Amino acid sequence: MKGLILSGGKGTRMRPITHTAAKQLLPVANKPILFYAIEAIKAAGIYELGIIISPETGQDIKHIVGNGERWGMQITYLLQHEPLGLAHAVKTARDFLGDAPFVMYLGDNLIKDGVAPLVDRFKAGQADALILLKEVTNPSAFGVAQLNGNGRILCLEEKPAKPKSNLALVGVYLFNKNIHKAIDEIKPSKRGELEITDAIQQLIDTNFHVDSHVLHSWWLDTGKKDDMLEANRVVLDEMTDVSMDGGIDEHTRISGRVHIGKGTTLKHCSIRGPAVIGENCSLEYSYVGPFTSIGNGARVSHAEIEHSILREHCRIIDFHGRIEDSLIGVNVELTRSQLKPVAYRLMLGDDSKVEVV
Ligand code: G1P
Repeated sequence: MKGLILSGGKGTRMRPITHTAAKQLLPVANKPILFYAIEAIKAAGIYELGIIISPETGQDIKHIVGNGERWGMQITYLLQHEPLGLAHAVKTARDFLGDAPFVMYLGDNLIKDGVAPLVDRFKAGQADALILLKEVTNPSAFGVAQLNGNGRILCLEEKPAKPKSNLALVGVYLFNKNIHKAIDEIKPSKRGELEITDAIQQLIDTNFHVDSHVLHSWWLDTGKKDDMLEANRVVLDEMTDVSMDGGIDEHTRISGRVHIGKGTTLKHCSIRGPAVIGENCSLEYSYVGPFTSIGNGARVSHAEIEHSILREHCRIIDFHGRIEDSLIGVNVELTRSQLKPVAYRLMLGDDSKVEVV
């Protein structure tokens, strides 16, 4: 069994943050989303992993992920020149995959229970494909499956205007070699992409066996800012341990589950978990509330931050205000000269400078 992670695309729904970074490298609880997918595949006992990359962000991904040694895996990068669809990505990986069965994982998806139980079920069964489904309130934003009373798939549609059910296709799929033939037979969709949804429908139409599993635990598709904050909230909420590698003064109060990295100093702060603060940060006279992640090298003074992601090397200095529900890019500087209490909701790309006066 091989693994295939799709980490291409342009991340248009996450601009301006994705002007300078691949969406799959954005951090959830201070760890790139993509690493969760890699770790899930490794936990399923798979060591040969292909990662689809785009010309725009591929170099960054290679640089951050490396050759897989740190996970004891062998990673092959596969360049998809244009974002022509998920099935097109599988075509791009054809030589790497050979005739092996594989698990395909969209690099911006997160699922609670990983893929190990699904890989076991697929290996033990006779199915040609196993798809994951999840009940959602906005099925039109996804691929949608219609099942009959026995749980058998009747049909799949990609982003239908009038969905036939509320069961969305999760971005994790298991296939054997028969998917390649199905992909060769489909045509691009209205949005000009070769859809994996259409390839799976093609398997069904040609009497291959497509199995499905409805997820009851969480699934997150981190396509937009609020999805990222929700992913950060869910992952921090499940964090069970506490670690303190930094230095705190006697005026600092820490409560709940909090991770504080090496070289970080806290003075006159109140930190209420679940929260993570990276390495070499400096925080003074500030409050960090639940569901907040602060990246390495950040500086924060006179600010309140809650339910937010601050990326590496942010500087929120003498802010005298509250930041909530915000996603702030690398190296952003945020300062303020007036002292009226206010709150902000922000999505700031890397290297932004904001002065509130
Ligand atoms: C893709 C698939 C869709 C699936 C979704 C899950 O959509 O085409 O069927 O439900 O991933 O994240 P996209 O992210 O390309 O819009």
